Amino acid sequence: MVVAPRAQWGSKLGFILAAAGSAVGLGNIWKFPYIAGENGGGAFVLVYLVCVLFIGLPLMAGEIIIGRATQKSPVAAIRVLTHDKSFWISFGWLSVAAAASLLSYYSVIAGWAMYYSFLSVTGSLTAEGAVFSDVFAATQAAGGLNLFWHFAFMGLTIGVVVGGVSNGLDRWSRILMPTLLAMLAALVVRSMFLDGFGRGLDFALGVRPEDFGPSSMLAAVGQAFFSLSIGMGTMLTYGSYLRREDDIMGASIQISALDTLVALMGSLVIFPIIFTFPQLGPDQGPGLLFESIPAGMAQMPAAGLLMAVFFFLLVFAALTSAISLLEVPVSFLIDRYGWDRKKAAMVAGTLVFLYGVPSALSGEGGLFPGFIWTIDGIVSNYMFPLAGIGLSLFVGWRMPDTLRHDHFLSGSKFKVFYGAWLTLLRFVVPVGISVVFLNAIGVV
Ligand code: TRP
Repeated sequence: MVVAPRAQWGSKLGFILAAAGSAVGLGNIWKFPYIAGENGGGAFVLVYLVCVLFIGLPLMAGEIIIGRATQKSPVAAIRVLTHDKSFWISFGWLSVAAAASLLSYYSVIAGWAMYYSFLSVTGSLTAEGAVFSDVFAATQAAGGLNLFWHFAFMGLTIGVVVGGVSNGLDRWSRILMPTLLAMLAALVVRSMFLDGFGRGLDFALGVRPEDFGPSSMLAAVGQAFFSLSIGMGTMLTYGSYLRREDDIMGASIQISALDTLVALMGSLVIFPIIFTFPQLGPDQGPGLLFESIPAGMAQMPAAGLLMAVFFFLLVFAALTSAISLLEVPVSFLIDRYGWDRKKAAMVAGTLVFLYGVPSALSGEGGLFPGFIWTIDGIVSNYMFPLAGIGLSLFVGWRMPDTLRHDHFLSGSKFKVFYGAWLTLLRFVVPVGISVVFLNAIGVV
């Protein structure tokens, strides 16, 4: 078999935007603002930054290193670094399974955002007397509608991934990410002119140590880990397309910084809206995106435009995450069976679409009520942390020293941090993630 050379990013910027695109997702908008607000605002943000620095960043660099050192997708990467029967390979499998599982329902949620974008463009969302909790309940209960938008979103995702690394992932990330940042900046500016801006800002960033407790600490670790998209083989896979001379630590710092910036900007959009309209309360999850925010925007001038910007922003954020998720099984199929990219993307995309069908039919009265939140729980509480613990232990303890060292140093301005990085990866990262995991399953 003739093996084609590994595809590569068009440039370092393409890689950074694609990886940041993976990290910046629904989690930045629907989780971070709320978790921060509830857990002491600025106090939480400080602790969150520490978690990003000491847990997220080291593992991100570690995953990218496995990818670049082997030029392979997760399963094959661990296999070439160990041997055929090594138990470490199971972590590779786990990350492929986790990526496919997350994408299966992420796509359904992104489908709602697509549907709402469509509704805001047609003007239905701004119609007099729209009650957003009813609109959202009806959306979730409409099985056929959900299947349609889930299908449409997976179609978009497959379309980008078929284009390949430089013509698909790289190109689209360069278009979508700057657009997303511009839309978000515009919404932040709009929020600054609302009556509730001061109170919103205070809720988001005012330091309230009295609201920060031990459980806030766990929430910070968990959120840092989720938001940076680590522990799912996506950073590993993206790293496998990275050029030898690019600085992995430097890139990881830029990716994490962008992700954190978007989360903070998200808070500055959300809370001023919530606090301007007294009938709304801070909330997290789908209710925040699909009920409270549109209900607030509906009372603002140019409501239709604002909603369209907001929901397109969500679709873009979800799309750049979804392509990184689909790329994991696609790259796996290409490596393992030698398939061409188009076939791999169609097959993996179709399977993930089918996997998402129960999630699309999980509204009230659907065939699988609540399924989407059950699978979310399994992915976030089990698959994701376990794969993260495995990958950090693998890079820290099992991967050959010279290879790890070489790839950390190659092209890097951060050479002196090698020792510190390794120590974090060996001890702090696995312990930190384990504590969150044990807490999520109710052990501690
Ligand atoms: N970081 C994404 C978000 O904030 C969610 C996510 C977790 C993810 N792991 C991932 C996205 C892996 C893509 C790939 O919404």
